[in-house]
Amino acid sequence: MVIAIDGPAGAGKSTVARAVAQRLGFTYLDTGAMYRCVGLATQRSSEPAATVARRIEIEVGERVLLDGEDVTEAIRAPGVSEAASKVAADPEVRQALVAKQQAIVADGDWVAEGRDIGTVVAPDAAVKVFLHADPEERARRRAAQLNLDPQDVLAKQRTRDERDSSAGRSTLQAPEDATPVDTTGLTLDEVIDQVVTLAIEAK
Ligand code: C5P
Repeated sequence: MVIAIDGPAGAGKSTVARAVAQRLGFTYLDTGAMYRCVGLATQRSSEPAATVARRIEIEVGERVLLDGEDVTEAIRAPGVSEAASKVAADPEVRQALVAKQQAIVADGDWVAEGRDIGTVVAPDAAVKVFLHADPEERARRRAAQLNLDPQDVLAKQRTRDERDSSAGRSTLQAPEDATPVDTTGLTLDEVIDQVVTLAIEAK
């Protein structure tokens, strides 16, 4: 069974997906971490992003391993967020990563989080949730999490939202078959409860 959690940057996807997976005994898949690995590896390489995406070995679990190197912290740097969002606009990069992601979720029970899980990676997912929140709220959360300036985060988030929304990747609107959950003003537990309830109903 796959629970797909999609939505824009800072909507709380990672925290919610991780907690839902823990409650249900499912495995959590952070697909953003995979794009971040390609972004980081591309920054370090002279090869095009698509070549890098096909070549590198990525392991996403408790720790994120890029060709065996622990990059769990390195991929969270603001420069890597930027690089990830850029490489994610390349259809060949997406093709390579979607293939890896589909192979991962083919067996077992998963909570997969990203931008295109319910639409592309797992269109048959049993539960599809679209998490969103006001832009200011998303920027405030991310700034608090990473100890950055909220205004600066908001400006960069706007650019990233625009890029993520282009190239046929509408990440700011819920697809028709997903349940939209506006997390603005909700506590984390309230959001987790809503998603867990949807999962139990779908079982
Ligand atoms: O979710 P996170 O911020 O870690 O994702 C990093 C970047 O990877 C996003 O800005 C987005 O451009 C890209 N991404 C994507 N598709 C996914 C997951 C992430 O395009 N399924």
